[in-house]
Amino acid sequence: MCGIVGYIGNKAAKDILLNGLKSLEYRGYDSAGIALLDEGRINVIKSQGKIASLESKINQLQNVTSTSSNKPEKEFNSILQERLVNAINKSNCGIGHTRWATHGKPSDINSHPHLNTAGNIALVHNGIIKNFYEIKRELEEDGVEFISETDTEVVVKFYSKFKDQGLSDIDAFRKVLQRLDGSYAFALINADSQKIILAKNQSPLVIGIGDNENFIASDSATVLEHTEKVIKLKDLQIAELSANDVKLFDLDGNTVKLEVHHMHQVSSVAEKGPYKHFLLKEIHEQPAVISKMLLDAYSVATEPIACFNNLDFKFSQIDKISFVACGSAYHAALVGKYLIELWAKIPVEVNIASEFCSFPVLHGKNNLVIGISQSGETADTIAAIKSAQSAGAKIMAITNKQDSAIFDLAKPNTYVTPAGIEVSVASTKAFTSQVLALYLLAIKAAEDKGLDLIDIKDELHKLPLVIDQVIERADDYHAPFLKYANYRDFLFLSRGVNYPIALEGALKLKELSYIHATGYPSGEMKHGPIAILDQNVPVLSIAIDGASELEHNVYKKTLSNAEEARARMSPSLVIACDSNRDVENIFDEIIRIPNISQFFSPIIATIPLQFLAYYIAEHLGKDVDQPRNLAKSVTVE
Ligand code: F6R
Repeated sequence: MCGIVGYIGNKAAKDILLNGLKSLEYRGYDSAGIALLDEGRINVIKSQGKIASLESKINQLQNVTSTSSNKPEKEFNSILQERLVNAINKSNCGIGHTRWATHGKPSDINSHPHLNTAGNIALVHNGIIKNFYEIKRELEEDGVEFISETDTEVVVKFYSKFKDQGLSDIDAFRKVLQRLDGSYAFALINADSQKIILAKNQSPLVIGIGDNENFIASDSATVLEHTEKVIKLKDLQIAELSANDVKLFDLDGNTVKLEVHHMHQVSSVAEKGPYKHFLLKEIHEQPAVISKMLLDAYSVATEPIACFNNLDFKFSQIDKISFVACGSAYHAALVGKYLIELWAKIPVEVNIASEFCSFPVLHGKNNLVIGISQSGETADTIAAIKSAQSAGAKIMAITNKQDSAIFDLAKPNTYVTPAGIEVSVASTKAFTSQVLALYLLAIKAAEDKGLDLIDIKDELHKLPLVIDQVIERADDYHAPFLKYANYRDFLFLSRGVNYPIALEGALKLKELSYIHATGYPSGEMKHGPIAILDQNVPVLSIAIDGASELEHNVYKKTLSNAEEARARMSPSLVIACDSNRDVENIFDEIIRIPNISQFFSPIIATIPLQFLAYYIAEHLGKDVDQPRNLAKSVTVE
């Protein structure tokens, strides 16, 4: 993760860097820092915590110097501070970083930018260098000392060694990169040259070309604030930026032709509107997203699904589907497996993306591997897709970001969920849009195989109304859920198509409130987890009936398993439909959702669980939109 920015031109770099960092804060918020080049010196300001604390440190520095007139204050305003303030006010070249800690705890010292020993080279980094200990040991043998626990400090000091040998900026960087094993997006400034040097491998990095100014950032939305001319750096490329020039090289030092894309600026600014948190706003946006997706897919049930017309294959050619995804996207994939096997009769396996590459890859051209990713940048999912691709599988992507690595890898077999920007780190509307995309995909796959699903399509079109109704009940959920705010452990149970929703409910509660919560298939509880149950561990079940024998059996067994939990004195909650009377004698707390049959209930059952997590987190005073230790885009494996 981590986000990096850079600017070189004739404007005040500090403002551009800080604004860029704010738009990259979704990539990590453990600490932030900037390095500014001014009068042949590098000036670094960094701070543990969010960009706001870096900004207030900068403001404090400016205020102290500009208002100081008496002696003690003058003493306080050391030369260093005066230089810093000059750089803050005047520098028009700098780099910045917002950190998600990998090596070394969040602290000022471990914050980026990192400097070489002489303090004349500064580096920011997004990624992980796997062999940094080895290089660190070698440098230590040469007498180099380290002050941080980071891999990045090793890289800047390694680079410095080659510069000391008289190599040019690019040649020194090539030497470094040739030795590194890992992922990186780097940006470096050197006090001796008015330039920014960049390189990338596996982590994203783009250059924005302006008029006598150039920009860099970890995503294109950030540079699109300034220019629509964008170069997407490719893996193992090095770039050298001055205010009016961009040069590109490969690792052998050969010049590479620039490919400039003209991208349209889409507003990347999301407002909270009347909502207290982005998460709450995004929960409320779900009815509109679901309606739009269904309207784009088909207007009457007799029409074939239209939203996958770009695919270059038919599902009738596919022998097996494998999903690769992480976190909430993995839960969506589990719903997808159920639906595709139920309706399209194609065998499906679901893989946690980070595990996919740890197993032997057995894929051929009739295997379809589908990556699901809100951000389109998740390193684990990218690695899984690439490994399936190199084993000859057909690739498809479901992502919320058109301009993303996963979208590019899977072209033309892509589906972009129209959830819009999701600011809150915990996924809500992106998750439910992934689930709906998989309903549509299952129907499309069945249609490709000549199966008739008109009744199912009719049923699916009722979802927008039901999702509106469930969101209207938000206030009704508040008091019952808050009764459970002080428990430390939770179990979430369900079976069949709602088992993944139990996983998702547990994940939401964990991420937002830091309460330990685990999702299990209801039937699995008796095989071990039941041992932890007592009056201190609430068990929440999702119990939705349906007309088919399969649905009804699942429902009945879910209730039996809930009884087993209740017999162990666990406080019991259930998500159940309005007309369900069976639950009344079993559960302490009944959370009602509008009537819906089990097969179509996952999206609807998700909504109260989002509110459960939100209300408890808010009540406990947690940082709802940016929970600790998380990042919205997870770009390290
Ligand atoms: C949970 C959440 C994460 C993501 C996971 C995958 O609320 O947001 O679990 O689902 O990190 O991210 P993407 O979908 O961007 O690949």
